[in-house]
Amino acid sequence: MTFQQIFGKPPETQASAPGRVNLLGEHTDYNDGFVLPTAIPQNTTVQLGFSSDDKHHIYSENLQEQISILDVEHPPSGFASYIFGCIEVLKKAGYTIPPLALYVNSSVPMGSGLSSSAALEVASLRAIRQLLNLPIDDVEIAQLSQQAEIHYAGVQCGIMDQMASSLADTEHILFLDTRTLERRVMPLPTGAEIIVMDSGVPRTLASSGYNQRRAECEEAARLLGVKALRDVTDVKLTETLPEPLNRRARHVVTENNRVLEVLQGVTPERFGQLMNASHASLRDDYEVSVPALDTLVEILQNTAGVFGARLTGAGFGGACVALVASGKVDARFAAHVLEQYSQSGYTGRVLVPSLGLNDAA
Ligand code: GLA
Repeated sequence: MTFQQIFGKPPETQASAPGRVNLLGEHTDYNDGFVLPTAIPQNTTVQLGFSSDDKHHIYSENLQEQISILDVEHPPSGFASYIFGCIEVLKKAGYTIPPLALYVNSSVPMGSGLSSSAALEVASLRAIRQLLNLPIDDVEIAQLSQQAEIHYAGVQCGIMDQMASSLADTEHILFLDTRTLERRVMPLPTGAEIIVMDSGVPRTLASSGYNQRRAECEEAARLLGVKALRDVTDVKLTETLPEPLNRRARHVVTENNRVLEVLQGVTPERFGQLMNASHASLRDDYEVSVPALDTLVEILQNTAGVFGARLTGAGFGGACVALVASGKVDARFAAHVLEQYSQSGYTGRVLVPSLGLNDAA
């Protein structure tokens, strides 16, 4: 179905936004720390026009489902809640939003930790900005998207995903200081490319486990007498904390230091070592990995040409990312990794780059 078929007229405008993969700096953004995401080729497109009645209407091409938003007392659930959140944060920011008709189509895998929700929020806000000529810049788009997610989707997320979707491209990595929003666009290390693989294990307990980790970090910062864990650079200080706050804080402090090391300029070999160390820290100290992710990461780490690999995103299932020597990732490489992974009883798939392998899936 097209916009025209659903709403009886063509859209007035449209906008897209990509998903993201984070190379390093996991669970640091809500600690005012440092992150290193890049955009992925998969994106979300929102076509937009004015509604013919007094309600917002949202159609998802992926779900083949239309949702009408009655009023603020009846917020929608599921994918529409993110768009409803975007409209509400715009209203709270003082803008008048007329009833809208939205048509959403996305190639960002859902539930893999590649920020399909941020892509949806950023694409929706971009389209609304265009339609109504709103004086909002790309950083504000990210901030409004984050507010939509926190207040209307119930995830106490940081700002990384929305900043990456709003500001990153697929050719560079975006270093972001999540406290100051200072950023630097950097090339991937010379001679390296990335591969993103889905573990096939959906994220479970992602939002409750996530919000719990965030609360633990806030408690650790309070006990250490700092505004946020970003303010701790000496990892020894974390040893004074009780279990498990000591390990949660140790992850955040060491992870921030790993990102800052990359910022100084590192070889792909060193970048890979830092990714491996990040995974171990997420697994053992932060406890957001699952056996499937550990298995896939280990297979990747032991594959020729791979500099390093780690889970990416919040964890609790979803995807992992590896840094690989340029030219190494092809159908043979993928088959080799997927074959070993399936021997452990799992079914994975390659999400980036597009190797034309998943088309039948
Ligand atoms: C999710 C959140 C981000 C970030 C990551 C973990 O993707 O939305 O803000 O905290 O988890 O690094």
